[in-house]
Amino acid sequence: ASTGLSDRLNRPLHDLRISITDRCNFRCVYCMPKTVFGRDYAFLDRSELLSFEEIVRIADAAASLGVRKLRLTGGEPLLRRGVEDLIARLAELRTPEGDRLEIALTTNGAALGVKAQALKDAGLDRVTVSIDSLDDALFQRMNDVRFPVSRVLAGIDAAHAAGLGPIRLNMVVKRGLNDHEIVPMAEHFKGTPYTLRFIEYMDVGTTNGWALDEVVPSAEIIERIGAVHELEPVDAGVPGETAKRWRYVDGGGEIGVISSVTNAFCGTCNRARVSTEGKLFTCLFATEGHDLRALLRGGATDAELRAALGGIWGARDDRYSEVRSSLTPELREARHRVEMSYIGG
Ligand code: GTP
Ligand code: 5AD
Ligand code: SF4
Ligand code: SF4
Repeated sequence: ASTGLSDRLNRPLHDLRISITDRCNFRCVYCMPKTVFGRDYAFLDRSELLSFEEIVRIADAAASLGVRKLRLTGGEPLLRRGVEDLIARLAELRTPEGDRLEIALTTNGAALGVKAQALKDAGLDRVTVSIDSLDDALFQRMNDVRFPVSRVLAGIDAAHAAGLGPIRLNMVVKRGLNDHEIVPMAEHFKGTPYTLRFIEYMDVGTTNGWALDEVVPSAEIIERIGAVHELEPVDAGVPGETAKRWRYVDGGGEIGVISSVTNAFCGTCNRARVSTEGKLFTCLFATEGHDLRALLRGGATDAELRAALGGIWGARDDRYSEVRSSLTPELREARHRVEMSYIGG
């Protein structure tokens, strides 16, 4: 039985994405360009971050309102000290029906070689790993910190060996930068246990200089891969999924495309996001969040926290990706959008 909570567009609350640090050891050109996130960039102070206790209280309140899946994000979530302890505490939470929550994490994979087993032991169910190219020179240019792709590949295998599956891989495609890697990436992961998902480059934040002509539409991605390996669509599994699934006709497994620009999925969007400093955002592209930390630190009870969350979700009417195309570039620019590294994607 569900609590029946739904927003103004009749969408339930199902996923909670929690950003646990705004820092990252990569400087991906489409996310944290060095020109902005340089040596003197002011990241959040430790005292501003939600503590583990605060995160657990929010997740618990969310679970009582219908949340069934938690996803830890960043920045790079594995940089947060003690992340395993946080996962262990989140793994103890229960839904009103007495089930545990699914716990997932999105990572750049750099630390997986070292941490995969400890994460699994703590209670993490799945990881999704970002990997934008197999060409080491290009991979290093894209992460802009000279991180070799071989170590990410080793991290993915370590996660698989630890049982952190089914593992999904995310490739952000930017035209003119890594779109020539679409078919090689597809072929590399075809027939492996990993599901590769191609992501349309999005206009998150205001520092990445996004332009529409840098987006490779998912239809084109499917066409390019389908020209060499026949593909057929797979019916959506879970309602509200971001990726549209495709399978190789020859049995080589599945791929996915996340088309937030050319084929928005706001109609089924059941995700809420908590920023590193405890603001609740009801859309990836929201201009402002709701300050849950102030509530918590102001002494709110669990019931008050629940009521606040329920009220915020009930009032929600966001659907930015669906209205994006009707905005003029000026209107789009005038909108203050939060950064990906702050809200966690
Ligand atoms: P699973 O479906 O559980 O594997 O995860 P996910 O696709 O929800 O999350 P992930 O962190 O792997 O994100 C994949 C891509 O989808 C990233 O580029 C995210 O920014 C994007 N994304 C995730 N949720 C949303 C959303 O609600 N709206 C939009 N526009 N993009 C989203
Ligand atoms: N557009 C699309 N995806 C992005 N990501 C980061 N920035 C962008 C962007 N501008 C991806 C990361 C990660 C996921 C959380 O979001 O590569 O896989
Ligand atoms: Fe870090 Fe992920 Fe952003 Fe790259 S995309 S800079 S790995 S948070
Ligand atoms: Fe959900 Fe906003 Fe993304 Fe639409 S743009 S799918 S409402 S987070």
